[in-house]
Amino acid sequence: MSGPALVIDGLTVEFGRFRAVDNLSLVVDYGQVHALIGPNGAGKSTVLNVIAGVSPAKSGRISLGDIELTGLTEAQIARHGVRRKFQKPSVFEALTVRENIEIGLGVAPGRAPAGRIEEVLDMVDLTSLAAASAGALAHGQKQWLEIGMVLASDPKILMLDEPVAGLTDEERARTASLVRALRRPDRAIIVVEHDMGFVEQIADKVTVLHEGRTLFEGPMSRVRADPRVVEVYLGR
Ligand SMILES: Nc1ncnc2c1ncn2[C@@H]1O[C@H](COP(=O)(O)OP(=O)(O)OP(=O)(O)O)[C@@H](O)[C@H]1O
Ligand SMILES: [Mg+2]
Repeated sequence: MSGPALVIDGLTVEFGRFRAVDNLSLVVDYGQVHALIGPNGAGKSTVLNVIAGVSPAKSGRISLGDIELTGLTEAQIARHGVRRKFQKPSVFEALTVRENIEIGLGVAPGRAPAGRIEEVLDMVDLTSLAAASAGALAHGQKQWLEIGMVLASDPKILMLDEPVAGLTDEERARTASLVRALRRPDRAIIVVEHDMGFVEQIADKVTVLHEGRTLFEGPMSRVRADPRVVEVYLGR
């Protein structure tokens, strides 16, 4: 598979009289890691929320192939293979690492396809901690566990909101390798991040949002050189 995975067309999101996303059009391709960057309040998390069906759109369309996602419930959208990791880690602290992955799979306890949980644990490097309580994990490990939870169901669209916030340099480097390893021809990955070094390592394409609109789109090398992006974001 290649070409467009997710097509966002003229998306507008309002909270009361405040317009958080303003007539945004964006295409996310299969096989790519697409980074969404921009200043605080630019509308990045809101875009992910609307894709996932958590926030309603005022107008515009979001489609996945010939499926229109706009108007579907969060559960229906998830069933179409669209999954997100929230900005704040939200693992089930009282459960084990393994049980958290099982929840991410969306099956009843003991019903996971043979080997799938082990496969996911291995991908996010948590095999040795499978039986540990999620609450006892370090912050970085919690981030990886949550990536494992969204990854477990083998999503077509994988969205990560600030996956390296609060991580050490070493954990950031490991997360970058993990995200690169998740790239597949039949999957699109959207990553929201403020860490430009990390974005440079993982992104095939970057969209810079500012006040709910696209300010710039292109490879990271060109994003860094754009005077408008430097002015509203990178230069700060
Ligand atoms: N549920 C809500 N109700 C009211 N306003 C909201 C709501 N969610 C977001 N906003 C506002 O919409 C704007 C965009 O917020 P959003 O969280 O999408 O920004 P962001 O680009 O993810 O920023 P950050 O980098 O700080 O996470 C902000 O001004 C925010 O205060
Ligand atoms: Mg955000």
